[in-house]
Amino acid sequence: MRDFRSGMLKSRALNGWGLFWLITAPISLAMLMAMAVSDLTSGEGVSAMIQLSVRCAVPWLYLAFAASSIQTLFPRSFSRWLLRNRKFLGLCFAAAMAWQGLFILWLVLGHTDYYVKEVYVLRDLIEGLGGYLFLLAMTATSFPKGRKLLKPKAWRRLHLGGIYFLWAYAFSVYWWALNYYGNPVPLDHALYWTGLGAWALRMAAWSRKRRQAAWKASPGIGAQPLAKTVGAVLIAAGLVAAGAGSAWQGMAETVLYGHSITQIPELYLPYWPFEPFLPLAAIALGAFLFVPRGGVVQARAAGA
Ligand code: HEM
Repeated sequence: MRDFRSGMLKSRALNGWGLFWLITAPISLAMLMAMAVSDLTSGEGVSAMIQLSVRCAVPWLYLAFAASSIQTLFPRSFSRWLLRNRKFLGLCFAAAMAWQGLFILWLVLGHTDYYVKEVYVLRDLIEGLGGYLFLLAMTATSFPKGRKLLKPKAWRRLHLGGIYFLWAYAFSVYWWALNYYGNPVPLDHALYWTGLGAWALRMAAWSRKRRQAAWKASPGIGAQPLAKTVGAVLIAAGLVAAGAGSAWQGMAETVLYGHSITQIPELYLPYWPFEPFLPLAAIALGAFLFVPRGGVVQARAAGA
């Protein structure tokens, strides 16, 4: 069974451009069929196409975002397949976002009144354009000619910064859908929790690598008991806060909005004031404290 599975994961249809068309062709067909049955003469109709196209895009973004971490945590034939095809999963996201881009232009140019009245918020536009600029640069530099334009370090920074920016966009949209707009559909829950899960996998892989580095430097070393306890409490508090955003969102709003010092970020800074990410910051700080780090004198796990 295992040989069959790993053999299948090596097939042309499930790798590279084969995988790209296997995913993108049905998505494009679904877009065309949805267009055929939608009222594209109205802003609502085109907006619904934006929603459909981006819902077909986000899963590939999350997979590309978590691919290397899944391989670190679960080194198997499936995770190797995922990492081997990360570029093509990213291109599947880009292809579905090209559909969203088409419908956005259709909305802005064809239903300008609707766009201005129902959609336009300057900071959202800055976030959205930022996302598309990253996506265009990442797509162009995913091919040899484009890649040659950047030094390896700059390439890595673009792709790491870009995938975090795009993940943050999708994750925060679903956080607000669950914790502010108040009538989430089951898919909003699914895309919020899988977005959180993708980030948590990166956090877990980072923690594992750090623990392994610490143990390489000092076998069996553990974090200071106090740091470990504070770390565990922060991780638990962050997880609870990530699941109960509507309980604290209102309070956060009174603290983080409406001050003279926050006027500029409220108008222009993407994701300000970062409410969806506050629980993740607590989890990250918790992991930083909980996991031993090499090169620093710490309590030996053996109680030496
Ligand atoms: C200037 C650029 C952008 C504009 C004007 C724009 C516009 C919109 C509009 C109008 C909707 C609402 C559709 C509806 O519910 O009827 C939407 C939803 C959404 N957009 Fe964008 N968008 C832009 C860029 C992006 C980017 C870069 C991402 C990155 C991932 C993204 C992710 C999303 C997500 C996740 C949703 C929610 C879809 C759902 O309800 O499940 N958008 N966008």
